[in-house]
Amino acid sequence: MRVLVIGGGGREHAVVKKLAQSPKVASIYALPGNAGMKEAELVPGNPMDRGEVVGAAMRLRIDFAVVTPDDPLAAGLVDALEEAGIPCFGPDQKAAQIEASKVFAKGLMRRYGIPTARWEAFDDLAQAMAYAKQGLFPLVVKADGLAKGKGVIIVDTYDEAAAALQDMMARKAFGDSGSRVVIEEMLEGPEVSVLCFADGETVVPMVSAMDHKRALDGDRGLNTGGMGAVAPNPYYTGDVAERAMREIFLPTVRGMAQEGRPFKGCLFFGLMLTKDGPKVLEYNARLGDPETQAVLPLMESDLMDAMLAVRHGALKDEQVVFSSRHACCVVLCSGGYPGAFKAGFPIDAGGVDALYAGAAMKDGRLVTAGGRVMGVTALGDTLRDAVRSAYDLAEKVRFEGMHFRRDIGAKALLAEENRHG
Ligand code: AMP
Ligand code: GLY
Repeated sequence: MRVLVIGGGGREHAVVKKLAQSPKVASIYALPGNAGMKEAELVPGNPMDRGEVVGAAMRLRIDFAVVTPDDPLAAGLVDALEEAGIPCFGPDQKAAQIEASKVFAKGLMRRYGIPTARWEAFDDLAQAMAYAKQGLFPLVVKADGLAKGKGVIIVDTYDEAAAALQDMMARKAFGDSGSRVVIEEMLEGPEVSVLCFADGETVVPMVSAMDHKRALDGDRGLNTGGMGAVAPNPYYTGDVAERAMREIFLPTVRGMAQEGRPFKGCLFFGLMLTKDGPKVLEYNARLGDPETQAVLPLMESDLMDAMLAVRHGALKDEQVVFSSRHACCVVLCSGGYPGAFKAGFPIDAGGVDALYAGAAMKDGRLVTAGGRVMGVTALGDTLRDAVRSAYDLAEKVRFEGMHFRRDIGAKALLAEENRHG
């Protein structure tokens, strides 16, 4: 098969690498991809331009497309490709609403009794302010639409809430995404990411993962696109998994089907394990970044087979197998990220087989071209081994200004220790 992967980050490189292992896959194209993806042929283009993507897919005689970035999913890229006769992995526009509108997602959870933080939605600034005034702080203010991961603000006082609401609703800091907001209760507990294959009816979870969103060690500093991940997540025990399946995953997929939005693709559950059980923090309509870079290397069965089963509604009969080993992915960033950074520095990969994100080709050399430049993933029989090996890999890579967190997996190791006493 000739497969087209849409997107150009580390997550997409992990997908490309896994698909390249499938005997069913003859060639892989990435639009736009990045210069570090040596397993794929790069196709220039803008994933948000549906006509351009469909045109490229027809020209390349693509048999199957994988759409992972949130914006093109919300804009209906899967609908456009499917209309052109190209089967896809990824939800259509109606199903992608589960990520693209937090008001829709919260409403779905309310309608089907899915545990989540208590909330209210507002499209009127004065009403939102009045509600916040009565609220029990801390509260969480969320822009309704997609906001590149920046649309969630935890506020400790009314003044902070008012500032956040004004920013989103009046000053349009996130454009139309912030015309409506959700104000919700702050939840506490360990966070778990669970990526699931869903074919509209059946849900097959992948191994759980833990993201590390803050820029600096000890979960300090600014939020980023993700500085590393480990899988599985030690907080996600068998009991929690069973409860999440029963109370969250199945009701979500059934609810979506019932409302005429069957979800086909990867449904990502961001869960908070509260003292009252697992609750949904967020849904994503796609594979997560950087969770995918830790999770897919643990997949032992064929990713192409799983994606085809999702597309054809045949997941029930598909054997999806994950290793019982551990994975750690450390993301290597440009100096200054997530703030301003310089690009164009040569990358010396030190022989490491990395997952590239912000990389480009200049004068025949791979150079830095983004905030998150690449990820290095290692597997191990224990979490400790995986973490150690990932850092051994990170130490081999060199580029000017390179920085990375030194404590990816530290929290997970601590959780393991506590669990085993
Ligand atoms: P979201 O954009 O909805 O994915 O949220 C981003 C991050 O904000 C989550 O991964 C959590 O770390 C945090 N978050 C979101 N909602 C809540 C909440 N109700 N309580 C505490 N933290 C939250
Ligand atoms: N790691 C969270 C996300 O992909 O949004």
